[in-house]
Amino acid sequence: MKHQIRVKVNAETHEAQVSSELTLLEFLRDTLGLTGTKMGCGNGECGACTVLLSGAPVRSCLILAVEADGQEILTVEGLARGDRLHPLQEAFLEKGAVQCGFCTPGMLLAAKALVDRQPDPDLKDVKEALGGHLCRCTGYESIFEAILAHPR
Ligand code: FES
Ligand code: FES
Repeated sequence: MKHQIRVKVNAETHEAQVSSELTLLEFLRDTLGLTGTKMGCGNGECGACTVLLSGAPVRSCLILAVEADGQEILTVEGLARGDRLHPLQEAFLEKGAVQCGFCTPGMLLAAKALVDRQPDPDLKDVKEALGGHLCRCTGYESIFEAILAHPR
């Protein structure tokens, strides 16, 4: 069965017919071509697919596209402003918090949700916000440092 949805993704409105079982992750990647959001485990355990749905971090592999109807979504493609990176992206680069980069989009979106509600988080806040986000490369310290050091 198909459903008509209307969502705003990175400030751009999209209308589409989607099947009941299409996940938000599949919609973003396969329908809209926004492949910055990564497919890791596919069952809510790695955080690679995290996007902001109406400002809150969600694992888009666990959300149906129909559940996002009428809402705003921010993906990693919407973080930069023109050719200016978001301050969190700059901090990740500066601190060496990006290696293979597979976890980075999800980490960035989770970090953005944190600093939007708490501009000056401490290490405990950062660890809580990134709880359940897996990174196989960095050992996490550089990611924590980047978020703590990001320019306000
Ligand atoms: S792909 Fe969604 S949490 Fe791993
Ligand atoms: S940078 Fe490779 S998984 Fe995190």
